Amino acid sequence: MAYLTSAPRGTKDILPVETPKWQYLEKTLLETAGLFGFREIRIPTFEHTELFSRSVGDTTDVVQKEMYTFTDKGDRSVTLRPEGTAGVARAVLEHGLLGDALPQKVSYNITCFRYEKPGSGRYREFHQFGVELYGATSPAADSEVLALAYECFQVLGLSNVVLEINSLGCPECRKQYVQALLNYFNQYRGQLCSTCLERLDRNPLRVLDCKSPEDKKIAAGAPSILDYLCDDCREHFREVQARLTAAEIPFRVEPTIVRGLDYYTRTVFEMVHTAPDGERLVCGGGGRYGGLIEELGGNPTEGIGFAMGLERLLSTMIAEGCDFPPEQTCDVYIASMGEAAGVKAFQLANLLRSEGFFAQCDLMGRSVKAQMKYANKIGAKYVIVLGEDELAKGEAVLKSMHNGATVSIRLDSGFSDAIYEEIMAHAYADLEEVAEDLGLNLH
Ligand code: HAM
Repeated sequence: MAYLTSAPRGTKDILPVETPKWQYLEKTLLETAGLFGFREIRIPTFEHTELFSRSVGDTTDVVQKEMYTFTDKGDRSVTLRPEGTAGVARAVLEHGLLGDALPQKVSYNITCFRYEKPGSGRYREFHQFGVELYGATSPAADSEVLALAYECFQVLGLSNVVLEINSLGCPECRKQYVQALLNYFNQYRGQLCSTCLERLDRNPLRVLDCKSPEDKKIAAGAPSILDYLCDDCREHFREVQARLTAAEIPFRVEPTIVRGLDYYTRTVFEMVHTAPDGERLVCGGGGRYGGLIEELGGNPTEGIGFAMGLERLLSTMIAEGCDFPPEQTCDVYIASMGEAAGVKAFQLANLLRSEGFFAQCDLMGRSVKAQMKYANKIGAKYVIVLGEDELAKGEAVLKSMHNGATVSIRLDSGFSDAIYEEIMAHAYADLEEVAEDLGLNLH
């Protein structure tokens, strides 16, 4: 029965000590995208299987090997989303958002599911933050989305990130490139893995994406797509780069990027973090897609977007020592002795909470000593001890756990105001201390 107390392989619990970091990450990314005009959309966790096979591509690893697909009780084939682009495209079409003022910009924080071999930043259930922009064909949109990707890393304090960009061309120039790839890989038919031989017949671009080390070596010598771009695609890619340069956004042209999903046309990119020891981690990826909306039954509309892996972002931030906001800790713990004091403590804690304080009182019937130990353990900033004397006098002592300073507080309707004043006075005294250490004068 041990499996009942361990999470399924490739999944991960996020414990209360970690959730503040996640909340910060998700909020910061949504807010940063908000500054660029992206508004959050929420989509279902599962979709009709066909949505993914038609959009992500039925020759991709994601569709062929990694989808969590099952037949539901109504005999429909459904799939837990392996990514967000397809579901978001379905949603904007279904709700007519592409009929509104264009460009339409949406952002999302979602869980994704891929049956991959877990390890080194790869999970079977993982989290993505992503954005999608619809309706703009100009290179300005590509640059804007790339600028947002870069800004996300800046805001989080991750400076060692480079945008690696490439162009996959349009269906026209891709036709010639695919022929060149076929000519090249046909020379190596005897050495390629069996999956790649199949890929060669169905979609030779996918061979460039193979994870086998032998095939990777062969792929390294393959022709570059950049030599096959038509004039329009070359000009589009040139302008994207010119805009990035003008905005001082660092990037590197990386002709080997093909991406693992089929819907891309023209600009594609990955956001790569390099650790001090040289280890590279792909924290995100995206690109432009021309045919997706049409494939799903909409009018021809181009989209461009990206998604970042939140597990990878977070582990990189922790490894790099990035700042996170301090965790919220208990403002006031009200300890009590005896039943009447316990009820009063509950009443006062409730009053404080209704005024926005983080307040706790005893729920375990413990001794005052044990309650104080607990208050210390949870990092309470102030404590109040209530006993018969305090109830009789209608007054108690508020003690700072930081420096032991005490002050009397009336247990009446002005209770929360008095606490507020004390907390502010102490905060100011602490600030003065810091200012003095730094040689600053606050007055
Ligand atoms: P993707 O490159 O498949 O693109 O995934 C984006 C990011 O999700 C990856 O760069 C990585 O950080 C993270 N990721 C992917 N698989 C895993 C995994 N098994 N475990 C942990 N993290 C993972 C997409 O999903 C596209 N929908 C992006 C896009 C949006 N393109 C246009 N718009």
